Amino acid sequence: MIQKMKGTYDILPSEVGKWQALERKIRSVSKIYHYQEIRTPIFENSDLFHRSVGEHTDIVSKETYDFMDRGKRKNTLRPEGTAPVVRSYIENKMYADKLPVQKLFYMGPMFRYERPQKGRFRQFVQFGAEAFGSNSPMLDAEVIAYAVSVLKALKIKDVRVEINSLGDEESKMLYKEELLKHLAPEIDTLCHDCQTRYQSNPLRILDCKIDQDKPLLKEAPKPIDYLTKEAQSHFDELIGYLDAMDINYTINNNLVRGLDYYTHTVFEVHLNGDLLGMQTAICGGGRYNDLVKSLDGPDIPAVGFAFGVDRLMTALDAIDFQGDDDDIHLYLMILGEEQKAEAMKLVQRLRIGGILTDVDFLDKSMKAQFKLADRMNARFVAIYGAQERIDGEINVKNQKTGEEHRISTKKLYTHILTELTKPSHDCEDCEDGTCCG
Ligand code: HAM
Repeated sequence: MIQKMKGTYDILPSEVGKWQALERKIRSVSKIYHYQEIRTPIFENSDLFHRSVGEHTDIVSKETYDFMDRGKRKNTLRPEGTAPVVRSYIENKMYADKLPVQKLFYMGPMFRYERPQKGRFRQFVQFGAEAFGSNSPMLDAEVIAYAVSVLKALKIKDVRVEINSLGDEESKMLYKEELLKHLAPEIDTLCHDCQTRYQSNPLRILDCKIDQDKPLLKEAPKPIDYLTKEAQSHFDELIGYLDAMDINYTINNNLVRGLDYYTHTVFEVHLNGDLLGMQTAICGGGRYNDLVKSLDGPDIPAVGFAFGVDRLMTALDAIDFQGDDDDIHLYLMILGEEQKAEAMKLVQRLRIGGILTDVDFLDKSMKAQFKLADRMNARFVAIYGAQERIDGEINVKNQKTGEEHRISTKKLYTHILTELTKPSHDCEDCEDGTCCG
């Protein structure tokens, strides 16, 4: 038997309702923040990720799924969504759009060849947002508030927002020099990869999984201490906005993130507790003011984030989040061969009108069909036999209350629709009037 690939999983029909409900919540919060959806290809030219995420990051050096196509072009399955969105922004000249600040979001599968464990997959889903065209810390604050609002809408409470600043190019240069000075005397004690990183990209040494806990790294200088005046005021202004917006956060001076493109703000949202195993980051993001330019676009700043949707789902499972149910509205029991054509006509009419209807396709007995209707959690059951076809009338039973009505088949649609939209209780009892909306 062929089995699924390591680090992948199936979403079975019984679980799809939850995913759809989660996706709907994400889309509705995105709309409130006025972000528009963008969909980019699942594979891109490999150079895109080398030149953006960074040659010396773990993602690009160890985790990409690369393949040569038949035209001998190098392709990479996207490991993240920022670089493809930036590519599309430049290629489609979105910077020339009538809206000077373009606010985009995306949701879809990403691929990283990582060691699978709880909360870490080789194919996983990211929901991300990218906002282009302003260097204002107001936009950083909006993006962080947007991420927090998604969690609020999903009622995921036990989270920690961590922020830091890496500063602008000049701050990063200053910091790099200090870091190199600090590491130089003990460079031999670092792992082989970090010794290479020392030459090529020393900042990445800070997120090395092997050396991370060594005192040399723990005592390393912090980017926040090397910010230029402008970078410091960007960070101070951001904090002012977050405070004004009542967003809870903690400043984590060790936060550097594992991708090369960040400048100024970086942030992560972590889930407290051990729900996700070792992986507690549910969302990561930051500002990347030089990326558009470095990918041959104009000099346009940007900021964004991405959530691991699979991790969101794990968090939702823990709080017993109820997704869309897959109950049907009406089960139509067809009795007798001669009734089938008329019954299918009736079913088609109901379905066109939006009534979720199902029937039996295996000529089962009445008893077996009642069982089937139960398994489908049918809200109503109607029996269509010879007498019903002759009379043009049908008995409809509400499975919950046991109430039964005999009505004209012509009125079946209106009857079901009216019953379905009836509030399940007296709405005056609702605390905020939203439960039946
Ligand atoms: P990232 O931190 O690499 O950032 O990924 C963002 C989120 O994706 C993580 O916090 C985590 O929840 C989820 N994630 C990452 N890898 C895996 C995995 N193997 N299995 C399950 N979930 C995973 C980025 O990707 C940036 N593009 C974020 C960004 C957008 N920065 C600016 N704009």
